[in-house]
Amino acid sequence: MKFSILATLGSLALISAAPTVHSVHEKREVNTEKWTKRDVKLTRSATMPMSIGLTQRNLDNGYEYLMDVSHPESANYGQHWSKEKIAETFAPSTETVDAVKAWLTESGIDSKRLSLSKGKNWIKFDITVEEAENLLKTEYSVYTNTETGKDHLACDEYSVPPSIKQHIDFITPTLHFDAIVKTNKKRRDLQGRAIKTKPVSGAHQGDTIVGAPSTIVGPSTEVVPQPAVTFSLANCYTYVTPDCLRALYGIPNGTLSSSSYGIVEYTPQAYRQADLNQFYINLSRQIPSGTAPTVDLIDGAVVQTTTESFALNGESDLDLEYAIALVYPQEVTLYQVGDIVEGASFNNFLDAIDASYCTSDGGDDATEDGIYPDTASGGYKGAANCGTLAAASVISTSYGYNEADLTAAYETRQCNEYMKLGLAGTTFVYSSGDYGVAGNGGQCCTKAKCAGGTYNSGSTGTFNPAFPATCPYITSVGATQIKPSTAVTATNPEEACETVIYSGGGFSNVFSIPSYQASAVATYFSDYKPSYTATQYNNSGTTRGFPDVSANGANYVVAVDETLQLIYGTSASAPTFGSIITLINQQRIAAGKGVVGFINPTLYANTAAFTDIISGGNQGCGTAGFTAVAGWDPVTGLGTPNYAALLAAFMALP
Ligand SMILES: *[C@@H]1O[C@H](CO)[C@@H](O)[C@H](O)[C@H]1NC(C)=O
Ligand SMILES: *[C@@H]1O[C@H](CO)[C@@H](O)[C@H](O)[C@H]1NC(C)=O
Ligand SMILES: *[C@@H]1O[C@H](CO)[C@@H](O)[C@H](O)[C@H]1NC(C)=O
Repeated sequence: MKFSILATLGSLALISAAPTVHSVHEKREVNTEKWTKRDVKLTRSATMPMSIGLTQRNLDNGYEYLMDVSHPESANYGQHWSKEKIAETFAPSTETVDAVKAWLTESGIDSKRLSLSKGKNWIKFDITVEEAENLLKTEYSVYTNTETGKDHLACDEYSVPPSIKQHIDFITPTLHFDAIVKTNKKRRDLQGRAIKTKPVSGAHQGDTIVGAPSTIVGPSTEVVPQPAVTFSLANCYTYVTPDCLRALYGIPNGTLSSSSYGIVEYTPQAYRQADLNQFYINLSRQIPSGTAPTVDLIDGAVVQTTTESFALNGESDLDLEYAIALVYPQEVTLYQVGDIVEGASFNNFLDAIDASYCTSDGGDDATEDGIYPDTASGGYKGAANCGTLAAASVISTSYGYNEADLTAAYETRQCNEYMKLGLAGTTFVYSSGDYGVAGNGGQCCTKAKCAGGTYNSGSTGTFNPAFPATCPYITSVGATQIKPSTAVTATNPEEACETVIYSGGGFSNVFSIPSYQASAVATYFSDYKPSYTATQYNNSGTTRGFPDVSANGANYVVAVDETLQLIYGTSASAPTFGSIITLINQQRIAAGKGVVGFINPTLYANTAAFTDIISGGNQGCGTAGFTAVAGWDPVTGLGTPNYAALLAAFMALP
């Protein structure tokens, strides 16, 4: 006890004795080609909001805590934590808060200017460019995004005193640039021909918006009139419907409504009720017209109806039509995130359901996340939603970044929030990406380890893994397709999806391998190690492999803008897999048990609950990608779910 008091006094003395010695805290590894540094003189007195992410306590133990409530062999399986216990366990120590405050005040930032967030995770204040340059021993410049022309303030590295380093995760604004987040889906008309997406007008297309429409360009120009086709189990190979998915995975029709299932969409993406109604008429007759999701609007979100197009309605219609059809009469919650002007990021969504992440007075990263109130004309003037919404028991998201778009510190911080929400009992399902081993848009990296987010057109280069698909605390879902002329049954294997899209998969450059998948991945490397070199991907077997599982992702019949179309993507696989976990939660609740929460340890401990996928691959970056093989593989994970077996595995747990 005495020793620790002495140690504290000692380090405080060191701060005031050696105020000028700084060490580099974060540094851009390579210059990104997306942003060019401009030769403009900055107004030294201009102010900017600065946020310091404080080091939280006990994060090193987070994995063990989560395994304690999620591992099927743990005596505490299912004993999820209260929000209070989570907040208390991870809040930064008083010592951390005091040390950072002392550094700031000694550097001339008056303590009255500082505010500490509710969760004590962030210190926020306004600072002039001159003060920031002195504080962080850096130089700020204006960078212009070569694609959008948007300007952004950033520096290439920054430093803090060595005694402060341990108390700080990262500081914004510094290195971090905006990132483009793409939805994972492609489409064809009912004859299987590609459809060209008309340019979207009227919607904001800034690239910080997660829901910004991606550009999908194909050879033909118009949506073809609906042909007179019949949907049946006999033609699931051509047209995937909710009935096909039920047959493929042995999913029963829903009968209960005791659980909760959330689908996340980002403005300006929007569903249309008329599309849901059309879908019920053609493909899910038991669902009454007008059946809608419960809509939770986050940060001034709107389900916009001003602009209709596949690019704006396709993702939301797909996710909701299949989620609703598969779990009906269970209600589905739509979390619609972000206002129409600024949009939002995954962090904004986390803010709304996880008070320990957000701060009502700052904490998001102004360069990556929507900042509310939104000062832009027409933007949402209210405060950001902070812990105001309950998290559904299963939450499915079909949007994703490239890992290389964001810094490791930013990703680690976000990933740790999924760990906390897992402790609270929420299952997070994310699509694994649609470009095989390449990243969004089929791009690959020009630098080893994908450092710096510099991409090429995708015919060569380093594999480009997706985020949050590589976060070890979420379940990453890849895509499969039905093999020609095989009967659709719960045990006939599909193959990796190679129609229009390729299942995202590979190995992280950021996250190390979680123990729950260590043996599955080790077997893959010992039996099937591909010949690619370490410059193509991290082939050490020590980093997180993804996806965890897969589900059909080809030829989904979806009503978009009241026209039936075929959609392809892990975007379809994720809500389908999430629906299965929701149905399992209902059965557990009916048996007086709790919801499943973080499922990966149970999935990897029950590989027999999956139909192993052993053919097809996920080509990209000028290679054949990885190949689906016996056991876990970085194309289809453990395989596709067998509902009855998976239900039995979860029902056997307390
Ligand atoms: C589900 O319900 C639909 C419509 O009532 C029916 O056609 C279908 O056979 C049912 N499927 C299963 C697996 O029970
Ligand atoms: C879908 O339903 C509409 C009625 O709203 C019908 O005219 C059309 O033929 C159906 N399409 C298919 C492919 O079943
Ligand atoms: C692969 O990941 C491990 C663990 O993070 C790291 O030590 C190693 O340097 C990485 N290898 C390459 C080639 O990036």
